Amino acid sequence: MRPKISVIGSGRVGTSVALHVGLKSLGDVMLVDIVQGLPQGEALDLNHMAAILGLDVEFGGTNDYRDIEGSEVVVVTAGFIRKADMTRMDLLNKNSGIIRDVSLKIREHAPRSKVIIVTNPLDVMTYVALKFTGFERQRVMGFSGLLDVGRYKTLIAKELNVSWNSIEAPILGEHGDSMVLLPKRTLVGGRRLTELLSREKVDEVVRETRGMGAKVIAQKGWSASHAPGAGVAVMVDSIIRDRNLVIPLSYFLQGEYGFSGVCTVVPAVLGWDGVKRVIEVELDPDERAELMRSVEKVRQAQEEVDRLLVESRA
Ligand code: NAI
Ligand code: 2OP
Repeated sequence: MRPKISVIGSGRVGTSVALHVGLKSLGDVMLVDIVQGLPQGEALDLNHMAAILGLDVEFGGTNDYRDIEGSEVVVVTAGFIRKADMTRMDLLNKNSGIIRDVSLKIREHAPRSKVIIVTNPLDVMTYVALKFTGFERQRVMGFSGLLDVGRYKTLIAKELNVSWNSIEAPILGEHGDSMVLLPKRTLVGGRRLTELLSREKVDEVVRETRGMGAKVIAQKGWSASHAPGAGVAVMVDSIIRDRNLVIPLSYFLQGEYGFSGVCTVVPAVLGWDGVKRVIEVELDPDERAELMRSVEKVRQAQEEVDRLLVESRA
């Protein structure tokens, strides 16, 4: 029997996840959405692709959460992207309600699954999913680190005229404006990025990386989807094949890096049981201060969400 991977939300990111998971032949994929016909139609299209490419996987589409039963991994992309007329609080309010409801469904119908959250604001939604699935923290994580590092690497590769395959770059903190890139610990052929580029250039690369999500939305008119789909499939691969890849992911910290009770991006070993351990990168005082500011931002948003979800129940 092939493993089952469910994808909640069959919009741009959800279908890209399904596509990349299928292309890697990681298992059968069940697409879920509240819109009647959408996941079913996407599944038809993807099955036709599988037939053309000769892939031994099957795609399904449904509006019924009972169909996620038996999933090894559930990827959550359901929710809104931030449009120009939406405040941060609007997005927090709308998406936290969606992620709470979806998490309760996952808890009911796929209680042994590992859960990968993609919906924004990423770290806070990972926190909401952890809270409402009630799963142990090892099985709930957020996707974003591979995307941000991928963006960072493309910019460095262009500056230095080297392959992005030759760049190693850790990332920490929030998926957002305060993400913590670590140029002093970014290695190109064993050399630090800070030895290879001027300070001004390094600052520019970091600034551009932070703004890349917004730039893609401004140019395409909607969120990135190809890169997130590919990145999520790397995480699913590491889980399904127990590969133990070290992947930057949003995780509920319990003492790691000196923080507790907050979700933030850290490098972690990912395998069949989910997150096996966090890798702690040594930080100098400036890097630590930057991480503290970033984590504090997420913590405040978590508190806002806790209030919002209590008020919505009252
Ligand atoms: P989209 O609008 O194309 O798709 C969202 C889908 O979710 C829609 O089809 C909608 O019907 C569905 N949906 C809404 N509520 C649902 C529910 N309760 N159950 C099932 N389905 C439901 O949006 P897109 O572009 O796919 O983005 C999805 C989310 O992913 C956004 O929050 C976006 O900001 C986020 N995102 C996160 C990234 C990351 O790196 N973490 C990267 C790119 C996007
Ligand atoms: C991105 O960084 C919007 O989180 C999304 O592209």
